[in-house]
Amino acid sequence: MIYEESDDVTEIEKAIGVFDSGLGGISVLRELRRWMPKERYLYFGDSAFAPYGEKARTDITQRCIQICDELVNRGVKAIVIACNTATSACVEELRKRYPHLPIVGMEPALKPAVEGKQAQQVIVMATRFTLKEKKFELLMSRYQKEHCIYKLPTPKLVELVEQDKLEDHALVEATLREYFAPYDLSGIDSIVLGCTHFVFFREQIRHIVGNQIALVDGNAGTSRHVLELLEKHGTCQTEDGHHDITILNSSPDPAYIALSKKLLNIESF
Ligand code: DGL
Repeated sequence: MIYEESDDVTEIEKAIGVFDSGLGGISVLRELRRWMPKERYLYFGDSAFAPYGEKARTDITQRCIQICDELVNRGVKAIVIACNTATSACVEELRKRYPHLPIVGMEPALKPAVEGKQAQQVIVMATRFTLKEKKFELLMSRYQKEHCIYKLPTPKLVELVEQDKLEDHALVEATLREYFAPYDLSGIDSIVLGCTHFVFFREQIRHIVGNQIALVDGNAGTSRHVLELLEKHGTCQTEDGHHDITILNSSPDPAYIALSKKLLNIESF
């Protein structure tokens, strides 16, 4: 059951709101739960409007504001934007709108992929929107001199997750091979999974690219950051017995909730 704002819950007992354009953020929710198993979570997937990666900034921003208003009305104590695309589109705007709420966004994990290393060759897989945005340009400009960074938009992977095709191994493999075909993988040091939907493909990507290439995503870094912020605000749940996960989706099709639950509990990815 979702409690309403009027219910008598303390700040600590409130849920952490998590949202994404669809089901990708479930990979983040899964990691958040590992780091903070005692917390309550309220997840919102915007599958009726996915993919964000092919849309205009104003449209993405409008959706994100609606979703965050809903999460705030339901009384969350923090918001995790479990979507690189939504973060590039409007994280500043959301922080301005809810100045007292801790809001954690995501960006492709390029920094952990290259820092402390020399002359790396890195493929950054992300949505078209994330890769063309100023935020990513700035991030890239910090590392571009020393490292070779390839931008790889892979919109079909988002569709495969949203359409429940992850287990169609032949289709997944063909799609991944097509995306990697232009690269000489023997020279690549790491691949950044810069979209939360792509984390579900970790094993299949590993199968195709081999063990020599590091696969880097931002889910653990984001979860650590959320934990640190809650600690700073003194709103970490330390008592047992409050944890639960509520999943909402903008699509009226109940299959999305079922698929979200399935993805949350799959052991391997
Ligand atoms: N999961 C989202 C991200 O991390 C985007 C997927 C989409 O295009 O909707 O960027």
